[in-house]
Formats: sequence, C-alpha cells, structure tokens
Amino acid sequence: CGIVGYIGTEDSKEILLRGLEKLEYRGYDSAGIAVVNNEGVHVFKEKGRIAELRQAVDNSVVAPAGIGHTRWATHGVPSQENAHPHQSTSGRFTLVHNGVIENYAILKREYLQDVTFKSETDTEVIVQLIEKIAAEGLDVEEAFRKTVSLLHGSYALALVDNEDKNTIYVAKNKSPLLVGVGEGFNVVASDAMAMLQVTDQYVELMDKETVIVTKEGVTIKTLDGEVVERAPYTAELDASDIEKGTYPHYMLKEIDEQPLVVRKIIQEYQNENNELHIDADILEAMDEADRIYIVACGTSYHAGLVGKQFIETWAKVPVEVHVASEFSYNMPLLSEKPLFIFISQSGETADSRAVLVQIKELGYKALTITNVPGSTLSRESDYTLLLHAGPEIAVASTKAYTAQLAVLSILAAVTAKTRGIELEFDLVQELAIVANTMEVLCDDKEEMESIALQFLATTRNAFFIGRSVDYYVGLEGALKLKEISYIQAEGFAGGELKHGTIALIENNTPIIALATQEHVNLSIRGNVKEVVARGANPCIISMKGLETEEDRYVIPKVHETLSPLAAVIPLQLISYYAALHRDCDVDKPRNLAKSVTVE
Ligand code: G6P
Repeated sequence: CGIVGYIGTEDSKEILLRGLEKLEYRGYDSAGIAVVNNEGVHVFKEKGRIAELRQAVDNSVVAPAGIGHTRWATHGVPSQENAHPHQSTSGRFTLVHNGVIENYAILKREYLQDVTFKSETDTEVIVQLIEKIAAEGLDVEEAFRKTVSLLHGSYALALVDNEDKNTIYVAKNKSPLLVGVGEGFNVVASDAMAMLQVTDQYVELMDKETVIVTKEGVTIKTLDGEVVERAPYTAELDASDIEKGTYPHYMLKEIDEQPLVVRKIIQEYQNENNELHIDADILEAMDEADRIYIVACGTSYHAGLVGKQFIETWAKVPVEVHVASEFSYNMPLLSEKPLFIFISQSGETADSRAVLVQIKELGYKALTITNVPGSTLSRESDYTLLLHAGPEIAVASTKAYTAQLAVLSILAAVTAKTRGIELEFDLVQELAIVANTMEVLCDDKEEMESIALQFLATTRNAFFIGRSVDYYVGLEGALKLKEISYIQAEGFAGGELKHGTIALIENNTPIIALATQEHVNLSIRGNVKEVVARGANPCIISMKGLETEEDRYVIPKVHETLSPLAAVIPLQLISYYAALHRDCDVDKPRNLAKSVTVE
C-alpha cells in the first residue's frame, strides 16, 4: 500500500491524487483521500484504480490539507468499505495506514468492546482507539502517541482531525514513510517519487517515531515525546525517469533500458584505472565468509540463483539461496561464518526485511543489493551495492533483474580477485558484449511478437525448461509470463519434467526450452524430444554456436556464464506480447503489487 499527505496553501486534492498515481505500484485494489477544510473532513474512496477515485471526488470541495491511500488488500477484500481512509465512529478522526497491526484483535477486545466497526480492517482499530483515548481527555497529539505506543506490527500512518485543518499526525514502524518539506507546505509519502511534483527535500523517519506536520514545519518526536532533530536530504530522482514518454507501457520502456543500465553499472563500478571496484569492507566480508546466504523474493530470488552460479564458479565461496518468507520461519542450520546478501529492487520488501532483523539479532553481517538508495534494507544492512537501474515502475520486474545479475557478476569477479583467483576473461569486456547483445535482442521485437503469437496466443499453460543457469532463467521466464498474461506457466529443470510434470503435456502444449550452455546442450535437446514425442509444441531458444535447425530463435554469443543477462530478454518480450495480445493490463497485473511491504 502507499500513502500520501499534503498540508499547505493550495488545494490538496490534485496533489494527493497525483501522488497516489505515482504510488499505484504499491497496490491498486482500491484508493481514497480525505481532505480537511473549515467545514471539516471530506472522504472520497473507491474500489479500483486511482482513475476511478478521480471520478468519485467532488471537485467543488477545496481544502488545504489531506491524506490519501492506495491499497493492496491484506485484511478484508478489495471494496469501498475496506478502502482507506477509515474514520472513527463520530467521524472526528480519519486515518490512512500501510502495514499490518499484529495485535489488532487484542486491542479491539481490550479497549473497544463497545464500538461498532464499519470495516474488517486492522486500520479501523487504530482510528477508533485514538478517538477513545482522546475522549478520555488527552489532547490529539498525546492520544495519537499513546495509541501508536500500543501497536505491535508494521505501520506507516497519517491522521487528520475534523476539528483542525492545520495538522497531520504521522507515525512509522517498519513500513516506509518520508516527510517532504517545502516553502509554506509540507508533505508525507511512502516514497519520494510520489511527491517529487512539489518537493525534492525529504526527511527520513526512523521506526517508532511520530511527526506533527503543519504547513509551517515538521516536528519529529519519539514515542516518549522527545523532539528529534534531523536535516532533510535531496532526493536524487529525475522526474522524467518516472514518465513513460512515447512508450505504450512502462514494461516495454524498462526492457529497452537494459543495455543502458548494464553500461551504467560497468561505469559505476569502475575505479579511475578502469578496473572493477567494490568497497574494501564488502570484499573483506565476502572473503571472511565460509558461506554466503542469499535471501530474496520473486524476481530478485531468481537473480539470486544466478548470482550463486557467479559466486561459486568464480570466487569459489559456497552459496545458498533462500526465499525470504521461508527462511524467516524455517531457518537452515547456519555455517560458522555466514554472510547474508539481500537482493531487493525496492529495498522495502517486508519478507526480506524480517530476515534481516532476525540475522542482525544473531549478530551477522548483511549486504543489500538494491535499486533504492536509503531504502529500509539498505539502511539497516552493514553494506549496500546499488543497481543504478533508475526507477522501475512496471510491476513485473525486468531491468532490475538484469541489473542485479550485472552487479552480482561484478561482486563475484572482484571477490575472486581478492581471493587470488585469476579469471581467464575480462568481465568489463564481457559485460560490454552483453550490453550490445541486449540491444540486438531489444531491436528484434517483431520476431518476439511473432513467437508470442505462435506459441502463447491462446494456450492455457506453458512450460519453461533449461539446465544449469538456463533452468534459473526459465524460472524467471515463467514468472514473467504468469504475472502479466495469467497463463499458467512453470519453469523446470530439463531433466525433472519426466519425473511427474510430463503428465501435463498435451497436444500443442508450448515448451520454451533454453539451450545456451554447451555442457548441457545435448541433454536439454534430449528433454525437448521427450516432450515433443508426447505432442508438445517446442520453442527452442539457443545461443550462437550451439544452434540447430530446429531452433526458433538464436541469441548472439555472449560469455556462457553471463548468458542469463541476454537469454532473459526474449522471455521478457515474449511475455509482454503474450499479455498484450490477451488484453491484459501489462503494467498493473491483477492481484499484484510491486513493492510488498507486508509479510
Ligand atoms: C513483489 C513484486 C515482484 C518482486 C518481489 C520482490 O512481489 O511483484 O515483482 O520480484 O516483490 O521485490 P523486491 O523489491 O524485494 O525485489
């Protein structure tokens, strides 16, 4: 979910709505705003996208302060009732909330037995509690802080009071939240992108802090009421980076940006002698570790699998890759000197953050690889490596994945060097070849569209197979396809299909097989034959030098270990065109959110 707030001299409605549009990547099940003027509070909320909320807003209401929310449903179905903002029974207090209150049922039982609830959300418990405590005689600020101190779980909160159009009350724990400062106005937002339209000056908030925001100033306080001083920083974001320009979709724009991103990464990670460079303290941690644990979710997890290959083959350090939500509750037996690497485009994923908190409590070191400087995971880790991919807006991740691979390859190669291992190739040169190849692949869109039409236009399901790193790329290809086209797609290790899943092969079932690895070229082609014998429709994507006549597409040659950076591009584009031809919402697929800040 994403939240925004504005307090100043202008009408807040449009600023809030525009801010919410920029936050839609955090969820788009339902949305709402509440604005306050001399007449009190006015709440507008709708199921669906911000565009629908715009229709519902009464333009005759003009108000200098307001809060807004775009929702990714956790407690309660997406509906108008469950959409934020939520109000207390008297209507005096109105609240937006991102996160999950773990003890909401207990609070409800202990303090709010006599209250009739309008929604099923944990958020309503907070706002009712504020009303209850304020009714006991505390002023609003104290009632707000007292309520916040009773909450267990994650929250980014913004509250307005019907009787006071001059204040927004804010609190944060675990969920991301920033306060933006301006001349004669101040804002609140889940991320800086949302309010870049009005300011690039932001103040970071720490967990368990509250903020009193007026149009004149922001006052940060701890839960005990002590004032905290913190200077704003300038958000280094270019507003044009978050526009899609002439592209029909962000996803297509971001796919096309990949060659540039890889070139940028090469540049960013070179020192003045044009050698690849990683900070000495990170290298020391890599070198000291007897085992590396990569923890991530979704696409970033798939990048971690390829990263394992880089680190193990080049730097010779054993690596385990774990899905964060599993690691958290089923921690493996750790080695003596583990190092943790968190991979996260957003740097905000709650599942990954939960693991970071756990391993920090155990006293271990963490490196975060992220696209967002200053994100929660980055701040809370010992070390950060940045992706330099620019904002990724489409929900389905593309350029962040290849950026993760590029950064992991550099980390692996430089670690190898620190460990006295000489690699027999020049990674800078090989990555430059990758970037050129990516460009060739991105230019071949017509061919990708025809593959999508040939194999995926009407199918119910599709399988991606590969061996070695091709298997990992297949997992990512399948995820892309299911995320945006809703085709049931699965990635399998080439040799594993026959141990069960082959039962699903019917006449014409599409099998997308990757063949970019010489040592498994014959065996993957053998696996393709097994499924073709059962009626499957094979689409073999191979690499120059390994191709045969039966291949549907041949990728120009790149360094074999780096092949995932190139091989994923046809898979991204095929998914894109499959989704497009099936009339799916490419940039905002159903049920998903780009940044999932709840566990
Ligand atoms: C969400 C997104 C995925 C993403 C995953 C991890 O589920 O829909 O596309 O891969 O989160 O996100 P992160 O920001 O941690 O890489």
